Amino acid sequence: QPRVGLVGWRGMVGSVLMDRMQAEGDFALIEPIFFSTSNAGGTAPKMAKNESTLKDAFDIEALRQCDIVLTAQGGDYTTEVFPKLRAAGWTGHWIDAASTLRMKDDAVIVLDPVNSPVIKNALAQGGRNWIGGNCTVSCMLMGVGALYKAGLVEWMSSMTYQAASGGGAQHMRELLTQFGTLNAEVRALLDDPKSAILEIDRKVLARQQSMGAAETENFGVPLGGSLIPWIDKDLGNGTSREEWKAGAETNKILGQGEGFVSPAVPVDGFCVRVGAMRCHSQALTFKLRKDVPLADIEAMIAADNEWVRVVPNTREATLKDLTPVAVTGTLGIPVGRLRKMAMGPEYLGAFTIGDQLLWGAAEPLRRMLRILLE
Ligand code: HSE
Repeated sequence: QPRVGLVGWRGMVGSVLMDRMQAEGDFALIEPIFFSTSNAGGTAPKMAKNESTLKDAFDIEALRQCDIVLTAQGGDYTTEVFPKLRAAGWTGHWIDAASTLRMKDDAVIVLDPVNSPVIKNALAQGGRNWIGGNCTVSCMLMGVGALYKAGLVEWMSSMTYQAASGGGAQHMRELLTQFGTLNAEVRALLDDPKSAILEIDRKVLARQQSMGAAETENFGVPLGGSLIPWIDKDLGNGTSREEWKAGAETNKILGQGEGFVSPAVPVDGFCVRVGAMRCHSQALTFKLRKDVPLADIEAMIAADNEWVRVVPNTREATLKDLTPVAVTGTLGIPVGRLRKMAMGPEYLGAFTIGDQLLWGAAEPLRRMLRILLE
């Protein structure tokens, strides 16, 4: 059985990955070797068949013994270890959740329900670096990839509503703590049905505006009861790094754009952090290359993969099936609010949601592992 080194399995993405691998029986097909960046020598989880102690994740010699390394440890780890491991002559497969290697020429962004041909082609050519995509991009393509595959998209604009989990576990805690702080501030007034709402509002705002550095350590400003229209680094050209990724990664996943045959499809928009827990939502506007009837578009989207489902564009169905609360913890990717926009029959609107820890992070990685095990 292939020896699969697991790094970063204890963090948030790593834990979701371990759960999914257990649910799908992946551990029966591999010899897992658990690595740790902080607890080498500690006890490995019981999925490990042979080794009962954790190996040092910085031990290049130990990593070299693996046929496959699967890491959710993060970008700093990849930056430090990956070049050393390759320089040591390791020719195994590197599967990684971090963005560090994503745009490298010898790396494929893996999302096999969408880009299986790109993966297979790279495998045939000796590809060894398999990187999970940005969560927002992966969730979006799981929903509306059919339109790209059919060559129907002239351009797409996405307005995102991204959950706290995209920042990490501490960000989720901070959001919930802020909600609690704000609630506590006005609890007595809330309990009194005759209290004035504008007084409640004034008190909430005053508390938000007086939040100290410790209360906003992760997001920088209050997110509870607010939103933040900037995610990731400032690229200095008016665009956030998260917004840049939308275009760059969408095209790379599809095998389009620079270095590939077809021209890149322009994808651009605004990425916004909101007070959701772990589902990224996005409102999409497409300019289609031609006027395709809405019923045909719905049928194409619904038939694309086994996880996507079209939510009827009604208030009732939207409230029931098209919210982060309805989607969290599932692999389902609902696509709803599908309609032609007022700008003309080639303009399509849609709204889609995905659990950013599942399709946005863990699932494409474990599926790549299964492809390598085939
Ligand atoms: N950059 C994403 C976010 C995380 O901040 O929501 C996953 O790629």
